[in-house]
Amino acid sequence: MTDLADLETDLSAKIDAADDLHALEDLRVHALGKKGVVSERMKTLGKMSPEERQVMGPALNGLKTKIADAIEAKKAALEEAALDARLASEQVDVTLPVAPEAQGSIHPVSQVMEECAAIFAAMGFDVAEGPDIEDDFHNFTALNFPPDHPARDMHDTFFFHEKEDGSRRLLRTHTSPVQVRTMMTEKPPIRIVIPGRTYRCDSDQTHTPMFHQIEGLVIDRDSHMGHLKGTLETFVKTFFEVDDVETRFRPHFFPFTEPSAEMDVKYERVGEEIRIGQGEKWMEILGCGMVHPNVMKNCGLDPDEYQGFAWGMGVDRLAMLKYGIPDLRDFFAADARWLRHYGFDPLYAPNLATGLSR
Ligand code: DAH
Repeated sequence: MTDLADLETDLSAKIDAADDLHALEDLRVHALGKKGVVSERMKTLGKMSPEERQVMGPALNGLKTKIADAIEAKKAALEEAALDARLASEQVDVTLPVAPEAQGSIHPVSQVMEECAAIFAAMGFDVAEGPDIEDDFHNFTALNFPPDHPARDMHDTFFFHEKEDGSRRLLRTHTSPVQVRTMMTEKPPIRIVIPGRTYRCDSDQTHTPMFHQIEGLVIDRDSHMGHLKGTLETFVKTFFEVDDVETRFRPHFFPFTEPSAEMDVKYERVGEEIRIGQGEKWMEILGCGMVHPNVMKNCGLDPDEYQGFAWGMGVDRLAMLKYGIPDLRDFFAADARWLRHYGFDPLYAPNLATGLSR
């Protein structure tokens, strides 16, 4: 029995001394494993006389339980200490200010796209996207461009090399092909805005070969021009963050809408600044109209059942107007000083509750 007491003292001391989970596991195997010191003693029970066994049996079982419990308790303590150490080392001080030099800034184009998405989301629109590389069908044919329409011409459109079958891919010249893709895959009612890159072979102070548009499309059973006008007026007021904006529709032509219009807004120039909303002059800011029945048919929708409206506008231009940026080419010059000046807080998401821009 003193032998067992010694063993218990020895094992307990070792358990106390184990300072990590590995050491503790080695110790468990050493004591309670198949060939462990306690297990070996249990095996000797069989050879004992019944009287001896009556005493040693409970004593050995008692020892086994004590050691197993001690190991469990130590294991829990070690795990807790490990977690505490980890929590302490991974602690983040949320009260620390973000180092200003670690911040980038949001490009005005991304900012305006986010602002538009927030405004239209509040009116129940989803955001839809499509590929920059398009084919003739989605960019032109389905949108009711006649085969000889000048917009298909090499001068405006970046075409890829002809394929063996004579077809050629192109860089989309507008975001309108995403209207086609959506109408062909989704059932009305449709309410989407489509932000994205667009390409035309053109370059001067107000044109770059790559630019950005945001397009809108609504298809339902009884959407009409009144809805179109209301939607766009709400947008313009919210976007330019002014109480009132005077607008007008001017008749225009687009192959994919009938009737078609351009929307102008009133503005005035105060020194270098352009103020949108009121004033003496009109400025065109977008194209729009009722979706042409041919476009509906080309996309598999019945124009007798559905009707809808659409519009398209230049994101870069909206950014220039809202934020007073004079030259479009600077948008794509990747000049860090320009970005620092015109960029936006990357930690702020534009929204209607706390404000669009910061
Ligand atoms: N796709 C036209 C363009 O790039 C813009 C446009 C005008 C889009 C009228 C529309 C629309 O959806 O209805 O010039």
